[in-house]
Amino acid sequence: MRIYSGIQPTGCLTIGNYIGAVKNWLELQKENECLFAIANQHAMTVKQVPQELRERTYSFFAQFLACGLDPEKSILYVQSNVPQHSELCWILSCLTYIGELERMTQFKDKSHKNEDNINAGLLTYPVLMAADILLFATDLVPVGKDQKQHLELARDIAIRFNNRYGETFVVPEPYIAKQGAKITSLQNPLEKMSKSDKDQNATVSIIDPPDLIMKKFKRAVTDSDNRIVFSEDKPGISNLLSIYSAFSGESIESAERRFEGKGYGDFKITVGEAVADALRPVQEKYAIYMADKAELDRIMKEGAEKASHIAFRTLRKVKKKIGFVAD
Ligand code: AMP
Ligand code: TRP
Repeated sequence: MRIYSGIQPTGCLTIGNYIGAVKNWLELQKENECLFAIANQHAMTVKQVPQELRERTYSFFAQFLACGLDPEKSILYVQSNVPQHSELCWILSCLTYIGELERMTQFKDKSHKNEDNINAGLLTYPVLMAADILLFATDLVPVGKDQKQHLELARDIAIRFNNRYGETFVVPEPYIAKQGAKITSLQNPLEKMSKSDKDQNATVSIIDPPDLIMKKFKRAVTDSDNRIVFSEDKPGISNLLSIYSAFSGESIESAERRFEGKGYGDFKITVGEAVADALRPVQEKYAIYMADKAELDRIMKEGAEKASHIAFRTLRKVKKKIGFVAD
């Protein structure tokens, strides 16, 4: 199957992104043809400092590689290096109604949060996302729940195009990881751990040094009864158990048994150590990649060439169908 996903280079990649996205991608890349992109054109819909955007693009790319996404198995690239995204985006935007875009929850949220910058890109964001996906004849799109609505729109656009111009696009299916994959903030366990959270203690980044990771887990918000069990009325402890299980490989049930009778303090230290230990090799590889930008450039270029090769063929077919003259 052809798999496509993207991530915006904003904030920093958290252990939530690792557990909810990258870990699934590592599994998917074993058996499928995958493309994973750094969606820097999507990131532009909110104001970015150019130098920071560039640095974060390198950093995210290096983190992909350090986590084990393999450019020999998957196509890893930066969205803006493949011009066909914007080209198809224009064409698809002429098949998308403003009403559909205005209904998107994320558009409404982001307009609310960025009242001084409700730009046209914020509105047409899902059309660019549809272009990303449809360019590559994608079967399956692993995304978080918050992207489900965008994916449904991508499907509607694909079906509309196919109906109007004849069978052209593969209609993609979402792949939403099961419940339980949602890692919550260490400071407010009822909220998703978000890579753009301003509170440094709320999130753990993949590249946080071990002592910082320990400090953040020690400060994690829990509750006042002292039982280490996974349950809905104990969101803080349940979140820590999920994180522990994801990084140690031990099941939640087995961890509950092992921590029975232990205090929260000790438990938090064990969780912190499990995360720091699991991330140590990732961080070592990350440092090596970041020290060699020329190598990163080379891998980015190779990925963009492979992606562009596929995208070019899709776009050629699309242009013919809609009545553009040959170039
Ligand atoms: P975002 O960080 O919102 O751009 O999301 C990028 C990807 O990471 C999506 O596929 C999400 O499903 C995943 N993701 C982000 N935050 C979390 C979280 N706290 N728990 C689980 N998965 C997450
Ligand atoms: N909009 C997605 C997000 O914020 C990122 C993204 C961009 C994406 N293009 C994509 C995800 C294509 C899946 C497929 O999470």
